[in-house]
Amino acid sequence: MQPFVFPTHPDRPYLFTSFISSIDGKIIVKEKGYWPIGTEKDKEYFTYLRAHADALVDARNTAVRFAKYIIKRIHEDMYQGFRKDLGKPPLPEYIVITSRPDEELHNALKNDHGFKPTILTPNEGESRVTPQKLIEYLNSKGYKNVFIDGGPNLIAQLLEARVLDEIHLTIAPKIFGSLPDKTLTMVEGILFPPDEVPQFKLESVEKLEDEVVLRYKVIATPRRSS
Ligand SMILES: NC(=O)c1ccc[n+]([C@@H]2O[C@H](COP(=O)([O-])OP(=O)(O)OC[C@H]3O[C@@H](n4cnc5c(N)ncnc54)[C@H](OP(=O)(O)O)[C@@H]3O)[C@@H](O)[C@H]2O)c1
Repeated sequence: MQPFVFPTHPDRPYLFTSFISSIDGKIIVKEKGYWPIGTEKDKEYFTYLRAHADALVDARNTAVRFAKYIIKRIHEDMYQGFRKDLGKPPLPEYIVITSRPDEELHNALKNDHGFKPTILTPNEGESRVTPQKLIEYLNSKGYKNVFIDGGPNLIAQLLEARVLDEIHLTIAPKIFGSLPDKTLTMVEGILFPPDEVPQFKLESVEKLEDEVVLRYKVIATPRRSS
């Protein structure tokens, strides 16, 4: 695989994400038996992509569900080999954003590697970690490339704040269907006004047998004048 090249911003890191979706746009079904959505080839693709990042960022729900796998995966040979090839230090920082750093989250982050994730909580008097606070934290660490793992709730906030730069979307050749509150799409919790819909430019398309990975870069979206 050819290394990914990312643009740089003068004042903040470049933020990118990757998602796997069914043909009908579902990135998770909240029932047993539907995960994983993608194939081993997709796993290799997104593991390589994540290996480019100085830090990985999850919001609470994604961490509660997947932190164990994420921590395991970044210690595995595949990821470690990619990091070495890319000339990166062995491990990225793993940052979890939450307003509720409770026992459930701490249990999800426990691991046998002695690996210590960072939990980022809101400033006093605020209910959320603002995108600005996240960026200030990432800047304080000097990070250039940051992988936003998700989930959809966090992606929505970063798109709204115009700081998510790039999306790698794998389409899995399957259709889940939907019932109320049983599935999620890649962005949840916000419906963008028609004149503020984030727009993207197709950068590349990669075929992985029956899956396809679309690499999209955001293009400037006009802000509604208030
Ligand atoms: N298919 C894929 O590629 C893919 C990729 C990523 C995730 N997912 C799936 O997405 C699902 C989770 O998505 P989700 O939208 O429910 O949740 P999420 O975005 O992972 O987490 C949302 C929660 O995180 C906390 N949070 C988010 N933003 C925050 C902020 N700015 N400040 C403080 N806390 C904040 C809030 O909980 P508190 O206030 O309680 O802390 C919020 O309810 C998981 O099932 C995961 O498997 C799928």
